[in-house]
Amino acid sequence: MTTMPLSNLRQHLQSSFDDLPGEAARLFHGRGHCYEGLSAVNVDWFEPVVWVVVYGEVEPDFLDGLQRMLIELAQRNERVVCVSLQQRNKGKASQWVIYGDMPATCRAQEGGASFELNFSANQNIGFFLDARPGRQWLQQAAEGKRVLNLFSYTCSFSVAALRGGAANVVNIDMAKSALASGQRNHALNGLDSSCVRFLPHDIFRSMGKLQKLGPYDLVVIDPPSRQKGSFEAEKDYARLLKRLPSMLAPNAQVLACLNAPHLGGEFLPQLFAEYLPALHPVERLPQRQDFPERDLDCCLKMQLFSSAT
Ligand SMILES: C[S@@+](CC[C@H](N)C(=O)[O-])C[C@H]1O[C@@H](n2cnc3c(N)ncnc32)[C@H](O)[C@@H]1O
Repeated sequence: MTTMPLSNLRQHLQSSFDDLPGEAARLFHGRGHCYEGLSAVNVDWFEPVVWVVVYGEVEPDFLDGLQRMLIELAQRNERVVCVSLQQRNKGKASQWVIYGDMPATCRAQEGGASFELNFSANQNIGFFLDARPGRQWLQQAAEGKRVLNLFSYTCSFSVAALRGGAANVVNIDMAKSALASGQRNHALNGLDSSCVRFLPHDIFRSMGKLQKLGPYDLVVIDPPSRQKGSFEAEKDYARLLKRLPSMLAPNAQVLACLNAPHLGGEFLPQLFAEYLPALHPVERLPQRQDFPERDLDCCLKMQLFSSAT
């Protein structure tokens, strides 16, 4: 039962391991449900670390076979210094190194920028690969713009905006440690932080402050789909949109993101039509090519809205 999917995975990974990319990349995207029997597995490359995430309960045989295969593949390429595996089940994550040693510091490289990674963190490692199209769009749109980065986490959007020449950026996230990592990410990329704010607050309790620091030409909204006590997309996205108009400059653009498989591709456009009709949908940014998806409704949506006519 488990041999077949594993041999398919091996075939897929072998060519990736033989020709590892120069940048952070997804080597295998099982979560996109394009490969039978392999939906539980994603494999990422953050040189020199291979980072594997296994979702839910899987057969012990499958997990053993997977680990043996990854060790064997890692031995083929000296650029692989460590393979670490995380298993996520029922909201909990455990991780262990299955090959080599975890380097003391590790960074994601993307388009000439670096982002620090924390493989010992509870679940997320400090960087979301799938948001690259959003960062790319922001970087090319940011010249001279005032940017608000809502749910900034480790501030990858802020780094992209400043690299694109943004006039200033306001980052806000209730996780202080994520913002501290965000500050280090700015330093790592040689960016001047004097025009950047890092606000460690709950967004819904900081509307007055955000409004005072505005108006903004570009707003990024990248919330969790559900985080107990702090955000629930079904009700809180609308609550947020209702508050935005007072913060927007003329011709403002909003990059609205959502990674909620249970809320389809129409969720964001419908929400904007109802709660922020002054902004019209421009385009949905394309997926990364290394994230093949069977159903585009179920993956990260990055939708661009604009008030320009
Ligand atoms: C999906 S992550 C954001 C990823 C980020 N945009 C990036 O570029 O990597 C969601 C973030 O929302 C933050 N968050 C959730 N509810 C919040 C709230 N009510 N106010 C402020 N931050 C919140 C979490 O702390 C978390 O860092």
